[in-house]
Order: sequence, then structure tokens, then C-alpha cells
Amino acid sequence: MIRKIFKWTGIFLAGIVLAAISTYTYMSVAMKNRMTKTYVFEKEIIEIPTDSAAIARGKHLVAIKGCQDCHGNNLEGKVMNDDGAIGRLVAGNLTHGKGGLPASYDVSDWLAALRHGVHQDGKPLLFMPSHETTLLSAQDMAALIAYCRQIPKVDNTLPANDLGPVAVIMSYLGKMPLLSVEKIDHNKPMVARADSTEGAAQGKYLAVSCSGCHRENFKGGEPLAPGFPPVPDITRTGHVGKWTKAQFIATLTSGKTPEGHVLKNEDMPWKMTAQYTRGELSSLYDFLQSIQ
Ligand code: HEC
Ligand code: HEC
Repeated sequence: MIRKIFKWTGIFLAGIVLAAISTYTYMSVAMKNRMTKTYVFEKEIIEIPTDSAAIARGKHLVAIKGCQDCHGNNLEGKVMNDDGAIGRLVAGNLTHGKGGLPASYDVSDWLAALRHGVHQDGKPLLFMPSHETTLLSAQDMAALIAYCRQIPKVDNTLPANDLGPVAVIMSYLGKMPLLSVEKIDHNKPMVARADSTEGAAQGKYLAVSCSGCHRENFKGGEPLAPGFPPVPDITRTGHVGKWTKAQFIATLTSGKTPEGHVLKNEDMPWKMTAQYTRGELSSLYDFLQSIQ
């Protein structure tokens, strides 16, 4: 009798293991197909300015959009993560040094990456937040590209991406923003220019950069990956609703909240928000406070 029970338990457990392995295999094959698909978008060209005001605007955008957090301080590329669970995630070298963008990488290739989320060859970019950069105004897009195209060359050859099992499963379940190419409305044209007067409208435009973590409705949610803190509500129903504008600005420029909580830059990129102008932070506050 006992032996029979053991036998059946054994078969049952082996069944579970087998089911888990085949589910994982299924997910990883599905992800691989999605990651290696070739997309074709009509080539786009926009006028790239060369004046110093536009270059300065581009530099500011690089700072406030967190490009350096992933691509490195000099945009020389960086291994963002390397462990057994999530795997190796690499943000490319955006300079024209060794290991960087090829000499043939032109304005339409920049647009393919920033508007559509694909490499020069039409393959999807992994973990590049193109679903956010695609919402930049044409004017900001041009300034960003203008700045990026004149940064000094850095020689930095990086290894390839190599997703681990946790990244595969989370991406399959839609809990990790792996393939922005799938999220973008590719037919949506760029707005010519964004509202740059201080206030909620400017705040809404800027807050696109917060939505990836704080969610589309800015009400926060589960941690972004295992081991990270939950993401707080930053609308008026969260702590922010009780803060004055000055406290909000102080939090986002110092990493310390009025409640005395210290934000780690790896969790909440406050070194990035610290680079917003006071006016931009004020607009973000106005916008977030306007959300019930
Ligand atoms: C969350 C991290 C992250 C942020 C923020 C980010 N990138 Fe990326 N980016 C990546 C990763 C990762 C890749 C490489 C994807 C790949 O090779 O599949 C990438 C790829 C690119 C590429 C394509 C390069 C190529 O080889 O085709 C360009 C261009 C680019 N990023 C520009 C930018 C700019 C400009 C910004 C700021 C507005 C930015 N990125 C912000 C992670 C990021
Ligand atoms: C990479 C993900 C990420 C991005 C991008 C991000 N945040 Fe956060 N933010 C977090 C996380 C995670 C926390 C909570 C950290 C903790 O608990 O220590 C947080 C905390 C905060 C807090 C403190 C809230 C509280 O209740 O104490 C504010 C305010 C905030 N973020 C505002 C912003 C704004 C504004 C933006 C966009 C300009 C932004 N964040 C972009 C992840 C992010």
C-alpha cells in the first residue's frame, strides 16, 4: 500500500516537473520568436538642428530621460544587469567609438530606435524604453538626436544580451517591459512641439518618464522586479497629495521624502529627477496633483 502511494506520488511529482519544464520551454521559444522578429517601418527623416540651443536642449533631455542610467555617463554603453535569474542586460554604446554605433547609423536609424524600438536591421531593441521616447515631440526628438550625434567617441565593446529564466517568464507574462516595439502605436505621428509653459500640461508630457515604473495612472503597484520595493502612488491619493510643491521638489532633488524616507537611486532614480529644472518639477507636481 505504502509503496503504491510512493509510486503514485513519484509519478505525480515527475509530472509536475515535466509540466514546468515544458511550460518554460514553450515560453522561451515564444519569447525567442518575438525577440528575433524583423520589423519593417517606413524610413523617416527629420531636420536635425546644429545650433547650440538645440544641442543644450538635447543634453538636458539625455539627463532627464535617464539615458545615462542605462547607457552610462558618456553614453558609452553599460552592462545593466548580470546574474543567473534575470540574465545579462546590456544597453549599447551610443557613441561612434569601437563597439559603438556603425558609421552608417543615420538619422532614420535613430528614429527607428527612438520611435519604433528597433535596431538598424529591424530587430527589436530589448529593454530600451522606446514606448516612452516615441512620445517625444518632433522638436525634442530632433534636439536629442542632434546632441547624441555629436558626443565624443568612446571605445567600449560590450557582450550581447542574454536573458535569464526570470526575465523570460516575467516578459512572457507581460511583467517586464522587454519589447517596447510591441507596445508602440507605430502610426501615431509626433506632435510638432510640446507645451513648454509651466503647468499641468507640461507636467503630463514630462510624466511619461515616470509611467514606466509608477504605471500609466501613476497609482503605483507591485515591485518592478523581485527584490525591489513596491512602487508608490504619486498622485494626490498618495503621499504626494499631502506634500507642498516645495516638499515635492526637495524630495526629487535630494532623494529624501518629508516622512524621512531615503530613496535609493537604484529603486527611484532621483539623481535623474534632480536634473529637471525647478519649473519642470513644478509642472510635474501640478499634473500629479490633478489626478484624483
Ligand atoms: C531602462 C534603460 C534604458 C534607458 C533609460 C534608455 N535606454 Fe536606450 N537602450 C537600452 C537597451 C538595453 C538597449 C539595447 C537593446 C538591444 O540591444 O536589444 C538600448 C538601445 C538604444 C539604441 C539603439 C542602439 C542600437 O544598437 O541599435 C538607441 C539609439 C538608444 N538606446 C538611445 C537611447 C536614448 C537617447 C535614451 C534616452 C532618451 C535611452 N536610450 C534610454 C536601455 C535604455
Ligand atoms: C525606475 C523606476 C522609477 C522611475 C522611472 C520613477 N520612479 Fe519614482 N519611485 C520608484 C520607486 C520604486 C519608488 C519607491 C522607492 C522606495 O520605496 O524606497 C519611487 C518613489 C517615488 C516618490 C516617493 C513617493 C512616496 O510616497 O514617498 C516620488 C515622489 C516619486 N517616486 C516620483 C517620481 C517621478 C515624478 C518620476 C518621473 C519624473 C519618477 N518617480 C520616476 C520608481 C521609479
